[in-house]
Amino acid sequence: FTVRASSYADELVKTAKTIASPGRGILAMDESNATCGKRLASIGLENTEANRQAYRTLLVSAPGLGEYISGAILFEETLYQSTIDGKKMVDVLVEQKIVPGIKVDKGLVPLPGSNNESWCQGLDGLSSRAAAYYQQGARFAKWRTVVSIPNGPSALAVKEAAWGLARYAAISQDSGLVPIVEPEILLDGEHGIDRTFEVAQKVWAEVFFYLAENNVMFEGILLKPSMVTPGAECKDKATPQQVADYTLKLLHRRIPPAVPGVMFLSGGQSEVEATLNLNAMNQSPNPWHISFSYARALQNTCLKTWGGRPENVKAAQDTLLVRAKANSLAQLGKYTG
Ligand code: 13P
Repeated sequence: FTVRASSYADELVKTAKTIASPGRGILAMDESNATCGKRLASIGLENTEANRQAYRTLLVSAPGLGEYISGAILFEETLYQSTIDGKKMVDVLVEQKIVPGIKVDKGLVPLPGSNNESWCQGLDGLSSRAAAYYQQGARFAKWRTVVSIPNGPSALAVKEAAWGLARYAAISQDSGLVPIVEPEILLDGEHGIDRTFEVAQKVWAEVFFYLAENNVMFEGILLKPSMVTPGAECKDKATPQQVADYTLKLLHRRIPPAVPGVMFLSGGQSEVEATLNLNAMNQSPNPWHISFSYARALQNTCLKTWGGRPENVKAAQDTLLVRAKANSLAQLGKYTG
């Protein structure tokens, strides 16, 4: 039998290449309303639609952001939202030459039969949602599932994570959205870097096994892995060089060169740490574009600087641009601090 290629095949390849372009990476600004509420609470703001809109307006309209940022991942509310000046957020991004993306998973719930682990919901109805998101201007998608090292991971949790990602990737490609494949291996735990490496090898082996089984076109996906680091509570810390060595070894063993881009999450690393680690990975040529898809490591200082005050918008945008530029340089292996 033959497998029907997505009618969007050429467009998917083009979109993925655009996002994985030299010196650019992704701004993850797709915090769910619950997570966005936590961020707003940290600066003493209420979790209202107006506050979320004001903050996201600040992000998408930072002048010249598109020089460093090739894609922005949005939460569904933002995809359909206008800025405080009444322009569609999506249009502002496109004017900045930033590809709009959409978080399509429906979040994590407990996985019965596992060791207190979780699984990711959102496959039911995904095909029609993906078509509507494409209509609204989204050209790529994200599905974040997690694997916990202290809680196992159990074989069941890894298999479920990999299978869910593969089904989502196939459905997204069928609707013209480039899927970002994100099995986040959580930083929590006391384990050392070798244990993270071992788990990551297992996770990525299963993810690619099921991606292949679901006939996903590798040239039209992007990956969003965790860097290989020691657990957050491990007493041994790793240098950027060690993180780069372990992470590149993992990618070389598990990721086919057909995949155009590997866009790391920051996962709770500090802003500077995330930049230094990315820079270390780009000191020699790689088969894939190695870049960033950071939320916290791009936004932390920006959010604090803003503090919900209109008079601080410009200063906050400047701090966002500082982080975006630093990571752009790190993508090129040219960050010097
Ligand atoms: P962090 O960079 O804050 O880990 O967030 C990236 C992301 O989008 C996780 O899904």
